[in-house]
Amino acid sequence: MLNFSASLNALQNKTILITGAGAGIGKAAAINFAKHGATVILLGRTVKKLETVYDEIIEAGYPEPAIVPLDMKGATKKHYQDMANTIISQFGKLDGVLQNASLLGHLEPFKQIEEDIFNEVMQVNLNSQFLMTQALLEALELAPQASVVFTSSSVGSQGRAYWGTYSISKFATEGMMQVLADEYAGTKLRFNCINPGATRTSMRAKAFPGEETSTLKTPEDIMPLYLYLMADDSKEENGKTFVAQPKS
Ligand SMILES: NC(=O)c1ccc[n+]([C@@H]2O[C@H](COP(=O)([O-])OP(=O)(O)OC[C@H]3O[C@@H](n4cnc5c(N)ncnc54)[C@H](OP(=O)(O)O)[C@@H]3O)[C@@H](O)[C@H]2O)c1
Repeated sequence: MLNFSASLNALQNKTILITGAGAGIGKAAAINFAKHGATVILLGRTVKKLETVYDEIIEAGYPEPAIVPLDMKGATKKHYQDMANTIISQFGKLDGVLQNASLLGHLEPFKQIEEDIFNEVMQVNLNSQFLMTQALLEALELAPQASVVFTSSSVGSQGRAYWGTYSISKFATEGMMQVLADEYAGTKLRFNCINPGATRTSMRAKAFPGEETSTLKTPEDIMPLYLYLMADDSKEENGKTFVAQPKS
């Protein structure tokens, strides 16, 4: 699946929502899903970035995307319910969700973690994903096959000093995915995680400011796994965490 080669119509007739679609991995995923035939719903907090992705998709001749400007820090249950209702009335169903948007917060000793930063990271990385996923279940159940992909990290399965808040949020993300996968086992809904590994984005640069970036994989390099998990080829996969860059 790391070398999965998707046919250009692998995601045809699918509607897929991507959070954090304006930059980094989310942007690459949105463009790649559209390239393979999906109508993508671009969710993010910076409208200008979403519009740039929208323009790239239109210029390439892929299906016209939709834009949902939303700051997951302040969004409420009602925002997600309204969004889900709009998706059902506009598209009739939802075939995929890539829960990708996240904040890194501060890397610091546990003793120094500030409550407001902890709460902000949890709000974006966990609480909002819970509310959004819960609101979207009805739309997902209307699809013939639906895939929800959460985004984890190496520190989502092994804690690491100074990565406190982010690491805890990713452990919780893995837990949410596993709970959902177990509840929906044997249905047409599936839930998995991707751990992208070190990838050349602004989040990586913030975490490792002095790092030589030229050797890092780009978001584009890791797209085969994202395409695999959105395509029907992965319909038997459920409850797993896929590592995009396994250590050899
Ligand atoms: N890059 C890596 O090495 C790496 C490694 C392991 C895991 N990951 C995970 O991979 C995912 C993508 O990360 P990335 O590296 O692509 O990061 P990124 O370049 O920083 O992109 C993160 C995206 O999330 C959006 N976002 C942040 N806060 C938001 C909010 N409150 N509401 C809506 N959108 C918000 C950002 O929007 P703006 O652009 O508008 O700020 C941006 O589009 C994350 O879940 C990250 O934890 C990345």
